This record gives sequence, C-alpha cells and structure tokens, in this order.
Amino acid sequence: MTLEADLSDAIGERHVLIDPSVTASYESDWTRRFVGHARCVVRPGDIRDVGSVLQLCSRHGVAVVTQGGNTGLVGGSVPRGGEVVLSTSRMGDIGPVDVVTGQVTVGAGVTLTALQQAIRPLGLDFGVDFAARDSATIGGLVSTNAGGERVLRYGTMRQQVVGLEAVLADGSPLSRLEALPKENTGYDLVGLLTGSEGTLAVITAVRVRLWPLLAHRTVALLALETTGAALEALAELKPRLGSLEAAELFLADGLALVRDHTGLPAPMAGEHVAYLLVECADRVDPSEALLEALGEVSTLVPGLVDIVVGEDARSRRDLWRYREAHTESINANGVPVKLDVAIPHSQLERALEELPGIAAAAAPGARTIIFGHLNEGNLHVNVLGTSDHQGVSEAVLRYVASLHGSISAEHGIGRAKTQWLSLSRSATEIAAMRSIKTALDPGQVLNPGVIFKD
Ligand code: MLT
Ligand code: ZN
Repeated sequence: MTLEADLSDAIGERHVLIDPSVTASYESDWTRRFVGHARCVVRPGDIRDVGSVLQLCSRHGVAVVTQGGNTGLVGGSVPRGGEVVLSTSRMGDIGPVDVVTGQVTVGAGVTLTALQQAIRPLGLDFGVDFAARDSATIGGLVSTNAGGERVLRYGTMRQQVVGLEAVLADGSPLSRLEALPKENTGYDLVGLLTGSEGTLAVITAVRVRLWPLLAHRTVALLALETTGAALEALAELKPRLGSLEAAELFLADGLALVRDHTGLPAPMAGEHVAYLLVECADRVDPSEALLEALGEVSTLVPGLVDIVVGEDARSRRDLWRYREAHTESINANGVPVKLDVAIPHSQLERALEELPGIAAAAAPGARTIIFGHLNEGNLHVNVLGTSDHQGVSEAVLRYVASLHGSISAEHGIGRAKTQWLSLSRSATEIAAMRSIKTALDPGQVLNPGVIFKD
C-alpha cells in the first residue's frame, strides 16, 4: 500500500489532501521566502491520529513537517520537497477553564484569538500576544517559544506553558498535562519540547497559564529625536510604571512605509527619528499614572519631543496599528530578508545606528526597516530591495554576534538560519542538541533541516 492509502485508512480519506490546488497554501509561507512541495497534507483530529501518522511515516521513511497557522518567519513549517505536512488545524478544542489555578488545556490548533475570546469573558487573559493572533496557533507558539508584545510583563511562551501532550517520532504518546506546582522527577521534557521547532515531537495539546484580565488600558506613542532618547525614555518609564506592559520601537522609514501601505494619517505633527509605543494595563484606569510618568520623563529626556495618548479602545487600536502593520507593509514592498535579533542593551543604540550600513554594504541600494520589542533589545531587521538573502544575513548576523547578541530572539532558527547557529551556540551545545535530536528521532522523521543543517 502507498503511504497515502495507509494514511487514509488510519485517519480518513478526507483528511489526507493531495489535490495541488488545496495543498498549495500549505507549501509556502506568507512572506513567499519559503516554497516547497508536500507529498500530501494530513489533518489528524487527535493524539491517536497523530500517533498513527507518525508511525506510518516512520515506517515508509517519509519526513513530517508540522504546521499550525503557518505564520512562522523562518521556514520551520514549510516543506522542502516530498514531506508530509501535518496540519494541527483540527485539534481545536478548548477545555474547561480552571479559574482557581488559572489554567486551561487547549488543542495545538487553537488560534491565539480563539483562546483570548474564550477566556476574556471569564476575567482571564493570556500572557503572549502579537499581530498574527488570528492565525497563529498555540501549538506553534509553544514549538517556537513565541515572544511578541507582552514579554516585558509576562515573559515568553515558555513562561506560559504548564504542561503539554505530544507524540514522539515513533508514534509514542507523551503526556505531561497534569502538572503539579511542585514536581521534581527528572528531566524537564515539557521545557525541552518548548522551542524545539517541530524537530523532537508533534505537540498535540498544551496546558497554559492564564493571568487576571487587566481591563483598563492606556497607550501612548512617544516621538523621539534619537534612538538613544527612546532607550532613555524606556529606562525612566519602567521604574515609574508597574503597569507597563509593552514598549515597542519603530522608526521614521517604517512609519512612512506603514502609512503608504495602510493610508493611515500621521500620528502627530512633524516627522521624528524614532517612535516608542507604550501600553499600560491595570485593574484601575492607568491613564493618570502614565500621564504623570510621561510628564516627569519629558523633563528628564530632552529628546522626547511629542506624545500622543490613546485612552479609548479605538484610539488605542489606531496607535497600535502603526506598529503592528509593519510586517504586512514591508511584505507589500517585496520579499524581505527578515532577521530577528537580540542585542544587549548596552549596544542597542550603536546597533540601531550601524545596522542599515551593515546591510547596505552587503547589498548596495537595499532598504533596511527596523522595528521591534525595545525592552528585550529584540530588533526585527527587514531588508528590502535585494535578492542576496545569504549575503545580507551573513553580514548582519556576524555583526550581531560581534556585539554578543543573539541571531534569533523570538522567531527561531527554522531553515533560515541553520548555517549561522554556531554564532549563538557553542560546539558543545550544538553537539548536545544533536544528540538529543538523534535520541528522540533517530530516523530524522521530524522536520529534517530545521535548527540543524542536514
Ligand atoms: C512582530 O513583532 O511583529 C513579529 O515578530 C513579526 C515580524 O517580525 O515581522
Ligand atoms: Zn516580534
């Protein structure tokens, strides 16, 4: 029997997709940087289905690429050629919310928006949020240890995962959903699978930590004359504002691109070098505290030249749009080299100044748009107008490593950055990671070519 016939027997023919017009959307990412060919797409409905798929693929010697919302930016969920794409879309259950422990178990295919909609009416919230919320899935968030806009307050996805359920490459189920607050019995397998980018197991369900919903929010957009002033403003705001939840940076050229693409009006009079979007959230209205802090910071940071505040839901959303529309606006202007780096705070101002020149030296005439999560020193470096992705990545990532930064802050290594892994990890670390991969997936069934070069 062919693999497709075996898969159809195991999980139902209608969940094994082979029609190219249907599988096409699973075969490329939405930046159009990664395009491949899937042997077929399977849509298992539960952990048993996933076990069957992995057993069969192992037996037939065919690799599996797990795909959630396909919003990843490093090619980690796109097939290269001939793999089975395992879509988590049917694993969309949201279990009962435990309001006492503040936990809920959700299927890997639940989108971030669906989770938010299920828990917010109960007075609870989720610690990770970002622009791709409507498509990105919880399984994908765990696999990539997603970051986003709230890391300042709640940490990354790793801090939200209480337990999980997964299937190993040979089809064996692994369940650590019922996590106790104190549990010290050997290796932290949940932690190991978090951020493993689909290379060690297929995550089928996740038990996540929830937080009290902070219904009162205020957003401010600060205009700054230098990027150094943005850093100074954040350093002054943080100790003054316990309710600070986000601190997002973008620059004049990014704003121009966003306005051009979206038709949004200018957020304020004049053009400025840098913009810092801050959001405060609290059980009571944080506006007064934010305004008071901004008043003080204005006198301390001369480079802070203008502020717009959004208190009601609509003006908050409008201000966020200037930041969140960066990705789509960049994409509308071509296929970018997309890099996601973290820079130590002491080197951030210098990096913001030097990065466009580093990229331009590798690709003359290219345009570099930088934005990101300022608190974590996480810069999204997007280079437009060049097809030399290799050359630009090499130059930028080596420069980042020279500043003791990380070549991937939140997007992961995927297929995009395998050749530069050694810039952020030692030979000993890479050897240890490879040993783990070989032990758990000796047949190289799960996402070959991701994290490690094959
Ligand atoms: C973001 O922060 O908006 C995302 O990481 C997406 C991106 O880098 O384009
Ligand atoms: Zn980001």
